[in-house]
Amino acid sequence: MELAILTSGGDCAGMNPAIKYFVERCYQAGHRPWGVSNGLEGLIDGEIEPLGYGDVSGIIYQGGSILRCSRSKRFHDEAHRRTAAEQLASRGIEALIVVGGEGSFQGVESLHEVGSSIRCVGIPATIDNDVPGSRYSLGVDSALNVIRRSIDEIRDTAASFRRAFVIETMGRHSGYLAMVSAIVSGAEVCIIPELPYDLESMKVRLGKEFEARRNYAIAVVAEAVSGVGSEVVSWFKDELSIDSRLTVLGHTQRGGSPTVYDRLAAVEFVEQAITGLEAGEEGFAVVREDSGIARKRFSELPEKSVLSPRLLALAERLCR
Ligand code: F6P
Repeated sequence: MELAILTSGGDCAGMNPAIKYFVERCYQAGHRPWGVSNGLEGLIDGEIEPLGYGDVSGIIYQGGSILRCSRSKRFHDEAHRRTAAEQLASRGIEALIVVGGEGSFQGVESLHEVGSSIRCVGIPATIDNDVPGSRYSLGVDSALNVIRRSIDEIRDTAASFRRAFVIETMGRHSGYLAMVSAIVSGAEVCIIPELPYDLESMKVRLGKEFEARRNYAIAVVAEAVSGVGSEVVSWFKDELSIDSRLTVLGHTQRGGSPTVYDRLAAVEFVEQAITGLEAGEEGFAVVREDSGIARKRFSELPEKSVLSPRLLALAERLCR
C-alpha cells in the first residue's frame, strides 16, 4: 500500500516516535511510507515526499515533529480541500494517518466531501487529552512530566518563603493537565473547568492550615478557566495575606523528549492504525479505552471528551 502520515494541530512529544515506527513498520510489511510536511497546510501545497530510514533515524528521543505541524484555516475552504485530495491521488496514496486532535481528524475526513477516496485514520495526539472516546492522547505523559518537574522546582523556592505559587497549565478547553498535576504534585488548590470551585470554603480550609504552621501553598489552575491565574494570586494576597506569584508554564509543556510511556503509546497506536488499514478498514481512530487500545469508526466516537469520574473525585477536595 501507499501510506502517508501527517502531524497536525499543536505539536507534542510522541509524534516523532510515531513517525519513526510508521516508516519502519511500512518497510517491514512492503508498504511505501510517505510523509506530509507542515500538516494540512502542506497537504494543500503538496509537501509530500516518500520517507526513508535516513529521515527517521535518531528522532525517537526528540520532541516536536520532524514533519512539522500547522493549524490550517485554508483547509475549511472546499477549493483547497479539493487541491489536497488531488495531491494525494496524483501520488497514488491510498490511506492517510493523521496524528493530531479531533479537529484534524474531522479535517481529513472532510476530504470525502470533495470526492476523495482516501482512507483516513486518526491517532490521538494532543497534550490537552481531549480527543472524544480516547482516555489517552500522545504527548500527555510527557507534558505531565514537564509540569511535574516545574512544580517540584517551584516548590523549592516556595518552601523557602512564606508564599503561594499559582501555576497555570495548558489545555484550551480541558482541565486534564491541571487536574492530574494537582493530584500528583500534592497541590492545595486545583481549578479546572470541569469542577465548580468555591474560594470562600478554600479560604476557611487554607486559613486554618496557615494558622497551623503551613508555610506555603501550591495552586494548579487550568488555562481553560479564563483569567483564573491572576484571580487566585490576588485572592491569596487579599483574603489570606499570603504573598503570591503566578507561573504560566505555556509552551514548555509541549516540548522535551518523549517519555517512555509516550514512545510506547506511539508504537502501539501506529501498529493498530496500520493493522486496521491492512484489514481493509477506513475512517477510524485508534483510541485508548479503559479496557485497552481499540479501533473506533469516526462515526462511533462520542461528541465530547469527558474526564474520568475517578480522577475528578480525587481532585474535588482541592476545589473547595
Ligand atoms: O496543542 C494544544 C495547545 O497546546 C493548547 O493546550 C493551547 O491552548 C493551544 O494548543 C495553544 O496553541 P498555539 O500553540 O497555537 O498558541
